Amino acid sequence: MLVLGLETSCDETGVALYDSERGLLADALFSQIDLHRVYGGVVPELASRDHVKRMLPLIRQVLDEAGKQASDIDALAYTAGPGLVGALLVGASCAQALAFAWGVPAIGVHHMEGHLLAPMLEEQPPAFPFVALLVSGGHTQLVRVDGIGQYQLLGESLDDAAGEAFDKTAKLMGLNYPGGPEIAKLAEQGTPGRFVFPRPMTDRPELDFSFSGLKTFALNTWQQCRDSGDDLDQARRDIALAFQQAVVETLTIKCKRALKQSGLNSLVIAGGVSANKALREHLERMLGEMKGKVFYARPRFCTDNGAMIAYAGCQRLLAGQHEDLAIKVQARWPMESLPAI
Ligand code: KG4
Ligand code: ZN
Repeated sequence: MLVLGLETSCDETGVALYDSERGLLADALFSQIDLHRVYGGVVPELASRDHVKRMLPLIRQVLDEAGKQASDIDALAYTAGPGLVGALLVGASCAQALAFAWGVPAIGVHHMEGHLLAPMLEEQPPAFPFVALLVSGGHTQLVRVDGIGQYQLLGESLDDAAGEAFDKTAKLMGLNYPGGPEIAKLAEQGTPGRFVFPRPMTDRPELDFSFSGLKTFALNTWQQCRDSGDDLDQARRDIALAFQQAVVETLTIKCKRALKQSGLNSLVIAGGVSANKALREHLERMLGEMKGKVFYARPRFCTDNGAMIAYAGCQRLLAGQHEDLAIKVQARWPMESLPAI
């Protein structure tokens, strides 16, 4: 089955062609980061308009790259939520219109299920069951995964998502959007031990997270550095390192706890923050000690992309699921409500 996947939930237009027999044939991405950077974050209306502009040229591009024609496509998969409603509607209407015109089925995919399954596109995919840490700009969740659509939420962020905390901390120090990669880069030159940030909620047995306090801690530290006339370039690096260490250690502690409680030793990390090298290294060390394994996607499939949507949609289509012709998207959509396949 050849599936064309469209991702438009936020500020990336992603398009990919996935073949259930041959794997990923082509994928293309247009990132709107430069468009939103001047505003310090995503402007929803600009995002929607840009998706409209990019979608059809990207579809043509992946078809050309894969040497395929519209008539070869068996089905469409699009992100139906969660995300920005206007942006989601662009992908959903485009997918439903093409599906109608080509006489093929379409399926709406849950964005976080897309992220969760992205490591399945790698050479050594994880086997069910496993614990998944989903860390993106909008979500921080620990989930027990027994199969596609068999999700048990173990814990989640009570306030800011991990990626959001990276973005806000970067912004308050005058760094560019998105802040995750900026902080990760600066942290490499930070002075270990100059600042120590708290590890929020690690003294409690439950698996929920809270990251908003770290941003406040970073703000206070940044202001102290400014007031005392410190070298601000070095202060940025040192705060970046202390902040990243706090997030990474907090996530690692909770992952270890979730694995122990579930009796599993296989961990999947997915979403934009799973591209973070320090997080990968920490989790690899921890899973090594547990004689387990950590799985993640190549960096460009950690952040938003069309390949994960084409893959997730394909699995559900193969199981006989698809939508009617209505164009439905959801800004909020709990992943546990998805049907099992
Ligand atoms: O999954 P994603 O592309 O979009 C959402 O679904 O939200 O995640 C974007 C988030 C942003 O907050 C970005 O700062 C963060 O992922 N991110 C990172 C890194 N790369 C992206 N955070 C930490 N380290 C990175 N290397
Ligand atoms: Zn995402």
